Amino acid sequence: MIDKGTIDKIFDAADIVDVVSDFVNLKKRGVNYLGNCPFHNEKTPSFTVSPAKGIYKCFGCGVGGNSVNFIMEHEQLSYVETLKYLAKRYHIEVVEKEMTNEEKEKQDARESMLIVNSFAQKTFTQNLSESAEGKAVGLKYFKERGFTDITINKFELGYCRSERDSFTKLAEQKGYAANYLVETGLSIQRDNGMRFDRFSERVMFPIHNLMGKVIGFGGRTLRSDKKIAKYLNSPESQIYHKSRVLYGLFFAKKSISKNDKCYMVEGYTDVMSMHQAGIENVVSSSGTALTADQIRLIKRFTPNITVLYDGDAAGIKAALRGIDLVLEEGMNVKVVLLPEGEDPDSYAHKHSATEFYDFISKNETDFITFKTRLLLSDTDNDPVKKANLISDIVRTISVIPDGIIRSVYIKECSTLLSVDEKVLYAEINKIIRKKRDQNWQRQQNAPLPPAPEHVAESYIPASTKFEKFEREIMRLLLSYGPKVLFNIEDENNKQEEVNTANYIIKEIEDEIELQSPIYKLIFNEYSAIVAAGKGVDSTHFTKHENQLISRSAADLLADIHQISKMWSKKGTYIATEEDNLKSTIDNAINGYKYEIVMKILKEIEDEIKQIQNQEEQKEKLEELYRKYMAYTKYKMEISKTLGERIVLKR
Ligand code: CTP
Ligand code: MN
Repeated sequence: MIDKGTIDKIFDAADIVDVVSDFVNLKKRGVNYLGNCPFHNEKTPSFTVSPAKGIYKCFGCGVGGNSVNFIMEHEQLSYVETLKYLAKRYHIEVVEKEMTNEEKEKQDARESMLIVNSFAQKTFTQNLSESAEGKAVGLKYFKERGFTDITINKFELGYCRSERDSFTKLAEQKGYAANYLVETGLSIQRDNGMRFDRFSERVMFPIHNLMGKVIGFGGRTLRSDKKIAKYLNSPESQIYHKSRVLYGLFFAKKSISKNDKCYMVEGYTDVMSMHQAGIENVVSSSGTALTADQIRLIKRFTPNITVLYDGDAAGIKAALRGIDLVLEEGMNVKVVLLPEGEDPDSYAHKHSATEFYDFISKNETDFITFKTRLLLSDTDNDPVKKANLISDIVRTISVIPDGIIRSVYIKECSTLLSVDEKVLYAEINKIIRKKRDQNWQRQQNAPLPPAPEHVAESYIPASTKFEKFEREIMRLLLSYGPKVLFNIEDENNKQEEVNTANYIIKEIEDEIELQSPIYKLIFNEYSAIVAAGKGVDSTHFTKHENQLISRSAADLLADIHQISKMWSKKGTYIATEEDNLKSTIDNAINGYKYEIVMKILKEIEDEIKQIQNQEEQKEKLEELYRKYMAYTKYKMEISKTLGERIVLKR
């Protein structure tokens, strides 16, 4: 255990701006700093760091805390692991009470695996520079490929010797536990209990996490035997998830922030060669299609990605793969194809950084244009092929979340394809509408999520219209629950107060089934308390033992503070929503009802279309028409209560 004096020193040294800056690109804004929240997905920065208060707070997802909280949350470390990490970072000597054997055994598996990996990396590196075999085979290979000592050292390259168990034997001799050797994948255990090296006779590329710790390895064979895999990678483990790692990000993150751009290449050697040529804002997806997690990793540092691939057919195919996902995240994607026969690795060896940048700036094409031109060159004026091409491009454009950016591409493609913009718009809107419906279906069937352990999972983006209305209604409920709205007379002519909570609960319970599991949870609890005749204080929810509830409640309540701040800044008096509370609530509830009714009408319409011409379904059809009329009437009633603005939005 770490002693109290050490803990105090760590807290003193770990400046919040400094600590957060390792992971988030912060910009100074007045007395505070602002950046993109690393715990949720956002386009405009709402993650604020206050050096004076020593805290961070995200106005988007509601997370907040001090330096230690930040590292715990971000790196998913325990309290003690975090203190040790910060102590190391600030060169503070950790005074620790001697651990008992029992405590030693309890030591976290993750930490042990990282220690095993670190030992492996050092051993492999030592093999490369000191062992006869390592020098003659591994080092010779890297040198022949043109890598300098500086690059080899920077990327901590290594060599695993050719005896089948040289590493495993050494590690076990040094006391590293066999189970961690197997769990990290460094050793493979046979059924007969024998253990041997996974990576024997391979040059080794350690894979680092954002803090620079080795979480896995890639090993390349130097044999040209087609039967063995060229690259072997560490298996998935508690510390290594291939889909959440980008090779080189640790070495690239500063440069990505600084240049506000990230180059994306295919392989380990592409990353290294570009560094060697002086271009450091580069990462690799390690030969697989990009995942959403990987894209979000980049997005913490920049929204701009440029994909650099070989100019051959495989390279072009690779460039097309996974890019829809990147666009979906709202990132700007550009493509550069290198001259045929070159990959970033070979190109970087032949050219200086300036020449490389020059080539990039001359050949950089936005992704949609790139894809359109590419496919167009393939159609040879065949109308069927061209139709397919249009629907392909249209699908890609439809995933871009920003409507303005979409319209820029529509214009561009309309010219390139000589198709009327209106036609493209119609197609795209069709796809977007369809997707929205699918989301709605999915939501209706979604089970209640379990309480998450980490903030990142508790963030609920309001992605659909329905969610937005529910969010607004819940915000009003939590913010103004006890506030009296109006009086009514009961049967004895006695005045009775109706407050916000009574009013909202009655409206919802009578007519609306909330779709969002978390809002439903909060709502049900709220109404149960009210039904029991008790008042509700919003802190009941902000301090709730269920993490999902407490964080969501804080999130809902934080909204209002931002709004009131914006108002006071203007200096002019604008009626607050509290002044017009009743109509604010009515607008939210009726707006939501309107959406639901529209949805139901659409469903009835579809059903009618399906059975329209079937004689035996006549009764059913009449029933549907009756329903349709009833809902249409209801729709009219609701729209009367709404301001025109909302009605016209459809
Ligand atoms: N890769 C892999 N497993 C394979 C082949 C490739 O994990 N069997 C990954 C590696 O991360 C590799 C990347 O895909 O770096 C790109 O593959 P490739 O172009 O074949 O490798 P290069 O990096 O070009 O390697 P080299 O130049 O050493 O041949
Ligand atoms: Mn290569």
